[in-house]
Amino acid sequence: MDLPLLRPPERLLCGPGPTNVDPAVLDAMRRPMLGHLDPDLHEILLEVVDMLRRVYRMPGGLVLPLHCTGTAGMETGLVNLLEPGDTVIVGQCGFFGRRISEIARRHGADVVTVEADWGECVTNDALLESLDRHPHARMVAVVHAETSTGIEHPLAELGPALRDRDTLLLADCVTSMAGVELDVGAWGVDFAYSCTQKCLAAPPGMSPVAVSARALERLRSRHTPVPFSFDLLLLEKYWIDRPVTYHHTAPVLAIYALHEALRRVLTEGLEARWTRHAEAAAHLQGAVEARGLELLADPDHRLAPLTAVRVPEGLDGKAIQMRMLREHGIEIGGGLGPDAPAMWRIGLMGQNAQVETADRVLDALDAVLADERAPALAG
Ligand SMILES: Cc1ncc(COP(=O)(O)O)c(C=O)c1O
Repeated sequence: MDLPLLRPPERLLCGPGPTNVDPAVLDAMRRPMLGHLDPDLHEILLEVVDMLRRVYRMPGGLVLPLHCTGTAGMETGLVNLLEPGDTVIVGQCGFFGRRISEIARRHGADVVTVEADWGECVTNDALLESLDRHPHARMVAVVHAETSTGIEHPLAELGPALRDRDTLLLADCVTSMAGVELDVGAWGVDFAYSCTQKCLAAPPGMSPVAVSARALERLRSRHTPVPFSFDLLLLEKYWIDRPVTYHHTAPVLAIYALHEALRRVLTEGLEARWTRHAEAAAHLQGAVEARGLELLADPDHRLAPLTAVRVPEGLDGKAIQMRMLREHGIEIGGGLGPDAPAMWRIGLMGQNAQVETADRVLDALDAVLADERAPALAG
């Protein structure tokens, strides 16, 4: 049978993620396959954990990558650290904060939301006031980098305020890891999760997590069991304890990819990488505003890896997104969720956090916008 070969087109991925995979990471996936119980693989697992600790800046507790998406990483934190009936306070200023609430509710938690409009940041004061009203809350959850709006939460200041209470801090670090300053250990984050397809520039499919020592204590004193696939203490027996205990057949090639991605982050240097993301974003955001377009996010809390731009009145944002893809091979995102304001979401993550990449996106957007506006001007 003569079946067609797989030939996906080339794209410049400048949406909310995934981003383009670093070629060195793709190369790593071509290295010899090992079995998941091969002792030589187990050395590689420990190297990955060691590099993850450095990228999260988490010297204690438990750090490992889960074999799952960012959403499942979120769910892992919630199902390990909350029990049915526990109260959780969730900062919600976009799609992913709402997803945290939705998952927590499905697991029987009592969810208290503290909300801000699209483009605004939930303040730490508002979260702490909510905690004063619900002093028995077992967790405060926030999205460090809200990819649906381009807001960065002031995470550094929140942990210290929770340190003396029996309230854990969960932070979604999906779009912040390796893209903006993140210091999970020093900031007192109890559960951080991320994923591989954003600023790490690896393929989607793994979710690195960091769990604090006090979160592990909470986990060990649970009354109800954790779903098997998400059980962090069982996963620890495969990733960290030696000899290993089988839990699942590990996605070996995805682990090689993560190994190389982390090696590249640390070789570049964390601070240098954060600066590169910040410079590319400053260039993009300045150029967007210079064109008379409006950014969605509050300037005091603007995120570097993801820039949300309001679609000007009278233009069809989705149609313009599609023309960017079809005519220029560039993917950008649109609004996420039914009530999101009309916006384009431009991501400069991993390899794509470059001024030159920002200019490619801007040139393509200029060309499409000029063409879309031409009939109106002619009329
Ligand atoms: C902030 C944030 N949290 C969670 C997720 C969910 O990750 P995934 O799509 O891998 O499930 C995303 C995905 O874009 C995200 O941007």
